Amino acid sequence: MSRKPIAIGAEAVLYLEDWLGMTVLVKERVPKGYRRAEFDNYIRRLRTINEARAMLRARELGIPVPRIYDVDLVNMRIRMEYLNGVPLVKFLMSNEGLNDKVINYVRIMGNYVGILHRGGIVHGDPTPANALVVDDKLYLIDFGLSEILGRPPNAQDIRMLYKLALDLNVTLRSFEALHKDQSNFLFTEFLNGYRSAMGPELTDRVKSMVNRIRRMVRYAVR
Ligand SMILES: Nc1ncnc2c1ncn2[C@@H]1O[C@H](COP(=O)(O)OP(=O)(O)O)[C@@H](O)[C@H]1O
Ligand SMILES: [Mg+2]
Repeated sequence: MSRKPIAIGAEAVLYLEDWLGMTVLVKERVPKGYRRAEFDNYIRRLRTINEARAMLRARELGIPVPRIYDVDLVNMRIRMEYLNGVPLVKFLMSNEGLNDKVINYVRIMGNYVGILHRGGIVHGDPTPANALVVDDKLYLIDFGLSEILGRPPNAQDIRMLYKLALDLNVTLRSFEALHKDQSNFLFTEFLNGYRSAMGPELTDRVKSMVNRIRRMVRYAVR
């Protein structure tokens, strides 16, 4: 069986595989030598289950994510649909500047994250490297750090709003790393999409919590 590596991440290797006559993508969590074997198995198993579960949940919420074909809890592999697309970050990095099409993807990404949050799921790493454009359609990938909170957000649930704000802060920081000068503009567009899923009240609450997190970080580094 041929294995074509796609990426090697911090905890997983990704490769293409010929499976039932299809080309599928395999995300495999490899053992970490520095962890005791039983503990290592436990962690990899937990994260594999968590990722697959969050992907299934996201799909139920109507967000385009790769189809899951198989979850193998012996080898800690998820076999999923291979999306032959371009990461959104590539468009954002291109020299042609930020055109309407790209801005619209940013808005759609914000909308997807808003739908996740409204559905009680924190993505964990909602950066434009984890959004793929396939035939003009945006997909969300990499649910490895997701958290399923199991309840919808409400304005009184400060703990939950804080988790959602941390998620958005990851996005904002990724924009800053890409385009320091246009990061606020990009984040505003992202929030426009987010707001249409989360509503104005919750969006304002989460947004002001992002600002608070950022003020705390500023004090902390002084
Ligand atoms: N279903 C998929 N189809 C195509 N490419 C994918 C798919 N899933 C992941 N990739 C590619 O592999 C890279 C790493 O996968 P990801 O799930 O983000 O793992 P990591 O946790 O290592 O970031 C992604 O940035 C993307 O380029
Ligand atoms: Mg990733």
